[in-house]
Amino acid sequence: MTLAEKAGQMTQHSWGFGSDEVARKEAATGMLGSVLNAPSLEERNRVQKLALESRLGVPLIFGRDVIHGYKTIFPISLGLAASFEPQLAERTARAAAREAAEVGIDWTFAPMVDVTRDPRWGRVAESFGEDPCLTSAMGAAMVRGFQGSPGDAERIAACAKHFAGYGATESGKEYNTTWIPEPLLRDLYLPPFRACVEAGVMTMMTGFNDLNGIPASGNAFLLRKILKGEWDFSGFVVSDWASMAEMIKHGLCEDDADVAKVSAKAGVDLEMATRTYAKHLPQLVEAGVVPVAVLDDAVRRILRVKHELGLFDEPYRKTAATSVAVCAEHLALAREAAQRSVVLLKNEGALLPLRKELRSLAVLGPLADAPLEQLGSWSYDGAVEAAVTPLAALRARLGADVKLEYVAALPDCRSGDASGIQAAVDAAARSEIALLFVGEPANLSGECRSRAFLELPGIQAELVMRVAATGTPVVLIIMAGRPLTIGAVCAQARAVLYNWQTGTMAGPALADILFGDVAPSGKLPISFPRTVGQVPVYYAHKNTGRPPKQDRPQIPTGTPLDPVDFDASYVDVEVTPEFPFGFGLSYAKFEYGRVQVTPARVRQGETVRVQAELRNTGATAGVEVVQLYVRDRVGSVTRPVRELKGFQRVALAAGQSKTVQLELPTAALAFTDADLQERVEPGKFEIFVGGDSRAPLGAELELV
Ligand code: BGC
Repeated sequence: MTLAEKAGQMTQHSWGFGSDEVARKEAATGMLGSVLNAPSLEERNRVQKLALESRLGVPLIFGRDVIHGYKTIFPISLGLAASFEPQLAERTARAAAREAAEVGIDWTFAPMVDVTRDPRWGRVAESFGEDPCLTSAMGAAMVRGFQGSPGDAERIAACAKHFAGYGATESGKEYNTTWIPEPLLRDLYLPPFRACVEAGVMTMMTGFNDLNGIPASGNAFLLRKILKGEWDFSGFVVSDWASMAEMIKHGLCEDDADVAKVSAKAGVDLEMATRTYAKHLPQLVEAGVVPVAVLDDAVRRILRVKHELGLFDEPYRKTAATSVAVCAEHLALAREAAQRSVVLLKNEGALLPLRKELRSLAVLGPLADAPLEQLGSWSYDGAVEAAVTPLAALRARLGADVKLEYVAALPDCRSGDASGIQAAVDAAARSEIALLFVGEPANLSGECRSRAFLELPGIQAELVMRVAATGTPVVLIIMAGRPLTIGAVCAQARAVLYNWQTGTMAGPALADILFGDVAPSGKLPISFPRTVGQVPVYYAHKNTGRPPKQDRPQIPTGTPLDPVDFDASYVDVEVTPEFPFGFGLSYAKFEYGRVQVTPARVRQGETVRVQAELRNTGATAGVEVVQLYVRDRVGSVTRPVRELKGFQRVALAAGQSKTVQLELPTAALAFTDADLQERVEPGKFEIFVGGDSRAPLGAELELV
């Protein structure tokens, strides 16, 4: 290959950005490696033909963001994470791959495995939440789902993004600076990427963020040292969209040539959207600034992935004889995934499930019948016409003997127009139960959708208050792409379901839950703050030297000398979150019994078996997500008060009990010490098993 051909392989054209005509010429002369967002299967194959007819005939790889479904939309990642079920994530990714592959998409830019503790950040919707253990399991499962196995025609390449630290964006503001000390980077932000590498992810994407002074797209420490060095990653690294050229604005690079030099040396193999590689790499090599070995390594990686995907054998894709898009099987999966994502936050007096004898129901709120909103961000390919809203599902389900009154009340979630509220109030007053659908529109979360306020947008809180004032019991159903501060509105409702944006089958899945065909089983993958001022609030915090003695505001009275507890708390709000990580109720009632660890004294390299008694003392069947947390009492560096180390969904019939077994390999106790070494230290560990991150102490373990 000539230097120009090598630089060409390292270039991706973003369709519609810059000249597509120029991109066609690049493909025809072997100066292009990849295309993002080809507009159709036909166009894809036409450009592919140009590439195949070039001197070397290397096929292009075509990418697109297939994030939580393609035509059939599954729950947003944050919702899916609430299922705590990696196999479910794997199946949804598989279905998405099948739908995408049949229209010529070879490669998706998912999963996003950025851990984040900041609900202000819009991309929290695309994340699996605040925990590295859960994110690792869900991310690796999606990689397996997208990529299937070699030779499989329905596989697409996955891409773990955004490497790394993007979720730590300062003040939750999109694209903002990140400062992450190396131990925290290694213990919190990197493990999910490593899990994806271990699952065989073919590609990785850099982030837009400046990490500790070096933007991720020019960060040799991340890409060369850790990813390609320590982890021996053999796939290729793509930049984020124009993120390389943005290093000029970051103030790291002088001009495009400088960008090409910095990114190539740092280990970015493929440039997305911009053309600094194509324009400058050949000269930089000739001038001796960039070693040719850098290009050879990058091209080898790109060709290897193309080869593994079978693009050299089958460069074209044909229109499928029978399309799998939105097929019955995928819709059933979407319904199942949505059911398992919903989190029951409150159920006073067992208001839910709704009684069979119910004769009148008010369905209210701007999100009861909003097909586009329930699909969430990154669903531009989603089949909106296939989306079944809660209103449609309830109408289809309820017979003529139930009077259903629907009032949207507000034109949309952000509206300040109160003129429709009275009609909703009247409908509620006439009904036995009011189902009230509020939340965020899809376009308030996702990329570049950071929020500084976390309340329900517009005047939705007023709608909740006025409907509740009728005295009719209210079931609040919140559809949103992030944790919102909902304490005040939840207090008005008898039952609250956090419904995220659960996709095409959001309506039927929710109806299944409301009527008790399935009990809710979702658990929060992220802590919900009481107020934005608590952010970041997360369960795996440090103890501090003055852990809070109480969980109530310490409002000082009188003079500054009047006593408060001088501890790590607030004077104006409780120190705990509104809802903790791992929390979620069921219609069943779960009780935990004795926790046992065997052996209780363990050597490094061994695996501990943790057993817990679980009993369903309720009157209905349900699924509990049993969670295992560990606290390392004393370390050579201080350790979090607890960390999730395992979880398992356990189905129990009414009255049934079971001994649940979880495995804890001692390797899971490793952390990064003050010398930046990953190690497992001997000592005492506390073991907590329960239904959320407040699980009580169950047993002790000693590592010798
Ligand atoms: C996003 C990526 C996405 C890429 C390609 C960027 O703006 O940050 O997550 O994969 O665009 O569409």
